[in-house]
Amino acid sequence: MTETEYARGLEGVIAAESEICQIDGAAGKLYYRGYSIEDLAQHSSFEETTYLLLYEKLPSEPELKDFTQRMRQSRDLSPVILNMIRDFPPAGSPMELLQSVISYLSSSVEHRIRHSADCNCRRTLHQVAQMSTVIATYQRFKEDKDYVESRPDLSQGANFLYQLRGEEPPAEEGRILDTCLLLHAEHGFNASTFTARVVASTYSTCYCSISAAIGALAGFLHGGANERVMNTVDEIGTKENIESWLDKALDEHRKVMGMGHRVYKAKDPRATVMEGMLEELSQKKGDRRLYEFLKHLEGSFRARMEQKGKPIYPNVDFFSGAVYTMLGIPRYLFTPLFAAARSSGWLAHILEQRKDNRIFRPKALFAGPTPRPYVPIEKRPSS
Ligand SMILES: CC(C)(COP(=O)(O)OP(=O)(O)OC[C@H]1O[C@@H](n2cnc3c(N)ncnc32)[C@H](O)[C@@H]1OP(=O)(O)O)[C@@H](O)C(=O)NCCC(=O)NCCS
Repeated sequence: MTETEYARGLEGVIAAESEICQIDGAAGKLYYRGYSIEDLAQHSSFEETTYLLLYEKLPSEPELKDFTQRMRQSRDLSPVILNMIRDFPPAGSPMELLQSVISYLSSSVEHRIRHSADCNCRRTLHQVAQMSTVIATYQRFKEDKDYVESRPDLSQGANFLYQLRGEEPPAEEGRILDTCLLLHAEHGFNASTFTARVVASTYSTCYCSISAAIGALAGFLHGGANERVMNTVDEIGTKENIESWLDKALDEHRKVMGMGHRVYKAKDPRATVMEGMLEELSQKKGDRRLYEFLKHLEGSFRARMEQKGKPIYPNVDFFSGAVYTMLGIPRYLFTPLFAAARSSGWLAHILEQRKDNRIFRPKALFAGPTPRPYVPIEKRPSS
């Protein structure tokens, strides 16, 4: 690259080496530390996958037992955090609440440890464990309901539904949500993960890094596509309207939410797993309307794009919003839940960054004015 060329948005720039996540966009493959997302979704749990991301290997039985116990013991919220949630301004977003809670958690860790290379994140785990508790509690307080203490016998996904609903979810619903968390746990050098690494590269704390990453995810170009898929479903209304809606949307060059991906040029493998879970949930609940609606929308959209020689496939967000909706989770909690899941990937990247750190310091191509003399205020034109 010459001094006058640059990569807008760092597109295509390799900014670090990483051993955490491999994405083969052309083949539609995703691996966490060499394990395929399909295998992990079928055999692993969010907790075990978090161990894999943080410790670089699958745990032995005693290691998993110890890790799971530590994570489950870290789930419950202190009275101060409960008050923060209760007192959070109604106009504030749950993403801002998560940022505040993560920053607050930092104060409970000794200064020396916060700033050490390992920053004790692997041991405390409360950033990962508590985020879903904060989200469930935020919703309960919104509904004037009481805080529900976590259940140490439930997986991270099942426990979230338990703390949200106040009653134990059916086993398959707990497993499905746990798999949703696992599917969102990691995805390479996206904007929020890169943010986490940039902040970590200054040797700021892991709490500052995660809080900054949550801020990056809050922007609508990163998080929220699944919410917008559900808004599209509402906008279209009935299955019979799909064709005419697509005619108009494509004429107006609108993007169909949940379709296409910057990296995947084949079907996003997470979308395949998510679709299977939506079908299973629809079957169990005896309500296939949302599933069939989305399949119809997908089929019609893809056929039109293929006719134009532009094959476009569903991404993970196309089906995830419907899964969350069928689990009774309100739309404004979709992105916070994404943050709760991604916190384990962020933490893995923070640790990797610190292992072989070099502070990020790119350059900008200066396009401003040439040097000029300072003009005293009385000599400036009044505009
Ligand atoms: C993610 C996204 C920005 C990628 O866009 P991209 O990099 O331009 O994708 P491609 O290069 O594969 O697009 C090829 C063509 O298909 C079009 N296309 C891609 N996704 C589309 C969509 N969802 N709806 C309509 N047209 C789409 C592009 O505009 C492009 O058309 P062009 O050749 O006339 O410029 C885009 O697919 C999108 O906005 N999707 C919807 C939002 C979404 O679901 N985001 C979550 C991603 S995880």
